[in-house]
Amino acid sequence: MTDETGKTFELTDPASGRSAHLPVRSGSIGPGGLDIASLQKDLGVFTYDPGYGMTAPTDSRITYIDGDAGVLLYRGYPIEQLAEKSSFMEVAYLILIGELPTAKELAEFTGNIRYHTMINETLLRFFNGFHHNAHPMAMVSAVIASMSAFYHDTMDIHNPRHREIFSHRIIAKIPTIAAAAHKHSLGQPFVYPRNDLDYASNVLSMLFAVPCEPYKLDPVAAKALDLLFVLHADHEQNASTSTVRLAGSTGANPYAAISAGVSALWGPAHGGANEAVLSMLEQIGTVDNIPKFLTMAKDKSSHFRLMGFGHRVYKNFDPRAKIIREMCHRVLAALGRDDNPLLELALRLEEIALKDEYFVSRKLYPNVDFYSGVIYSAIGIPRSMFTVMFAIARTVGWVAHWQEMISDPGMRIGRPRQLYTGPTRRDYVDIKKR
Ligand code: CMC
Repeated sequence: MTDETGKTFELTDPASGRSAHLPVRSGSIGPGGLDIASLQKDLGVFTYDPGYGMTAPTDSRITYIDGDAGVLLYRGYPIEQLAEKSSFMEVAYLILIGELPTAKELAEFTGNIRYHTMINETLLRFFNGFHHNAHPMAMVSAVIASMSAFYHDTMDIHNPRHREIFSHRIIAKIPTIAAAAHKHSLGQPFVYPRNDLDYASNVLSMLFAVPCEPYKLDPVAAKALDLLFVLHADHEQNASTSTVRLAGSTGANPYAAISAGVSALWGPAHGGANEAVLSMLEQIGTVDNIPKFLTMAKDKSSHFRLMGFGHRVYKNFDPRAKIIREMCHRVLAALGRDDNPLLELALRLEEIALKDEYFVSRKLYPNVDFYSGVIYSAIGIPRSMFTVMFAIARTVGWVAHWQEMISDPGMRIGRPRQLYTGPTRRDYVDIKKR
């Protein structure tokens, strides 16, 4: 736990006159957090915070976001610098270990990941249990959960070496599982990982190679995918990471916890938004239709939201969206697809929405998912695989947060409270008398 700032808030119950002295805990940057641990003991109440918008259930040293300033730091390093100069494997090391690696450390880490890229052949057979049109997120989440049935020898969560082997295994194998899910959907044979390739190139090879002809890797596509992985690698206590922490806090095995994270990511309010954005853009179709869809997004009874817009924490801009928007132009030009109608439509939609009072007053800006789908589709990744790509990258963050939590001697089971609004106590009525 971080130090107290010396600042204390006093809360008094006017009825009983009882008071609670609540210290403010400080982080290394950003606003402090009111420590409410003594509230129930001192005042007999707990906090009420639907959606946890004001609740920090943990301290963390991994990622920092300043939502008003549009700042995102991994272990202190700005996302813009990492996006420009780093690679996904280097960022993975940084997020997991806390420091940028030396060349030797990076080579060793990359070697460890490569060593684990294959999955057990029996695990591969699981895919045959799925219908060809099963969503790949369903397959990925189920197969990751099944991994807990394979590695009994390294599942002691209190053994740091076991945790390290788990982290290498899951980061190495999730692309293999993801690609197997894709191949199953297509009815194509599974393509084994290639350990002579870098992480992103190997993903592309497993997704797109076929046994009957040589696969020509496109370095532009590999670089773009690597950058998308960097941008998605972690995002502090988002819904899926909090899910991994909550599941892991019970002592559940880490594969089960990561599988829970994949399931949480799938929702359209979270990682599923990248798939939903593309469906929405196709539904809008032309610039002329934009006003109609904006009206729908503003109408609370329509249940339609502008997908890829808005964020719980960013209230100015999402720095990742800014990087991806710039990247779209470069990547599409390099791939010879710069006349991309979906990008044109997305740009116009952003322009029109950002002049609209509804979006301006609510500080709703494009988020990371608004433009990522345009790049995924330009490099040939089908829409149903967009959220899976997100899951591959976010696995690094999930693992880092799980490790941080398990190695914290003060770890407690995650167990929120509730404000009960159901019936008060009443007596059982015999069925004949109801
Ligand atoms: N379209 C229309 N209205 C919106 C939108 C939107 N995309 N997002 C928020 N609002 C409105 C919302 O109706 C509310 O209006 P009012 O104050 O009149 O009731 C106000 O803005 C505040 O929204 P909120 O639902 O309280 O905000 P939240 O912090 O609970 O939700 C969000 C954040 C990301 C779930 C939400 O903005 C949303 O549903 N966006 C669309 C889905 C999306 O793009 N998700 C990806 C998030 S970023 C990547 C990731 O996390 O994986």
